[in-house]
Amino acid sequence: MIMKKLFLIIFAVLIAGSVASAQNFKYIGADKCKPCHNKPATGDQYNKWLKDPHSRAMKSLSSPESIEWGKKNGVADPSKEAKCLKCHSTYDQVDPKLRATILQSEGVSCESCHGPGSSYKSPAVMKSREQSIKMGLIVPDKNLCIKCHNKENPFHKEFNYETFWAKIAHPNPEAKK
Ligand code: HEC
Ligand code: HEC
Ligand code: HEC
Ligand code: HEC
Repeated sequence: MIMKKLFLIIFAVLIAGSVASAQNFKYIGADKCKPCHNKPATGDQYNKWLKDPHSRAMKSLSSPESIEWGKKNGVADPSKEAKCLKCHSTYDQVDPKLRATILQSEGVSCESCHGPGSSYKSPAVMKSREQSIKMGLIVPDKNLCIKCHNKENPFHKEFNYETFWAKIAHPNPEAKK
């Protein structure tokens, strides 16, 4: 009986431990992905993202449309408004305790889609998909997109995964799938 209880306690501690570490992965910002993901041969994801509207999402909150929306809705500065930041900035989506070197100005950065990078960014982990996923990497699909691409956005356009993904795709031509 005592042994059984002891096992249960150990088991519970182990589970609690793994959940705690999963919550401790931190957001490090796109600059930390850049040195490895800026090579044309493997897809140059970083520079593709710089041209992708996601990296400019913070700028849109200061655009004439946003200011106009603010005037109609009594919001002085949409770029400081939580209701807008929640989709336009990775920084504002995450628990403040999990912010490492990520900046608000990055807008919707790599880690909004791929998960916090503090533990999967090391070369030994990154070369294995399985290890990377254990360390917080997310390989996203369309269910992720519709967390932001929905009618809660006052400027919503109908979302179609295939056509939208085609605009921001950043495949690695060398990856064997
Ligand atoms: C030390 C170099 C390095 C850093 C830093 C790095 N990566 Fe990687 N990453 C790799 C390598 C190598 C691969 C495997 C080859 C490939 O798919 O490009 C990889 C693969 C990936 C994959 C594909 C996973 C799969 O199997 O589909 C994603 C997504 C990814 N990295 C995202 C990121 C993000 C986001 C960051 C920053 C938070 C980052 N990486 C930082 C080297 C790195
Ligand atoms: C964290 C929220 C978030 C997620 C997740 C997200 N997006 Fe976006 N997306 C945005 C925002 C915000 C914009 C507007 C950027 C701007 O200000 O121009 C946008 C813009 C876009 C655009 C440009 C739309 C246009 O009208 O030109 C495309 C294409 C796009 N996203 C595709 C995707 C796809 C595909 C996925 C899933 C793989 C995805 N997004 C996931 C927030 C998100
Ligand atoms: C639910 C997530 C979400 C919220 C909340 C949100 N946005 Fe967006 N926003 C998006 C997405 C996604 C797009 C890209 C357009 C699309 O495909 O729907 C976008 C596009 C925009 C655009 C157009 C960018 C362009 O040039 O095409 C502006 C301006 C904008 N949002 C301002 C705001 C403001 C201001 C708020 C706060 C009131 C806000 N958004 C709240 C997700 C969101
Ligand atoms: C809007 C969401 C979104 C953003 C932002 C984003 N990605 Fe991705 N990324 C995806 C999706 C979706 C895939 C495809 C997953 C799949 O089905 O293989 C992908 C795939 C990848 C792959 C694997 C390519 C392959 O063919 O093996 C790498 C590497 C990668 N992303 C790195 C990055 C880096 C680095 C950044 C930032 C500079 C970034 N991504 C930003 C959604 C995103």
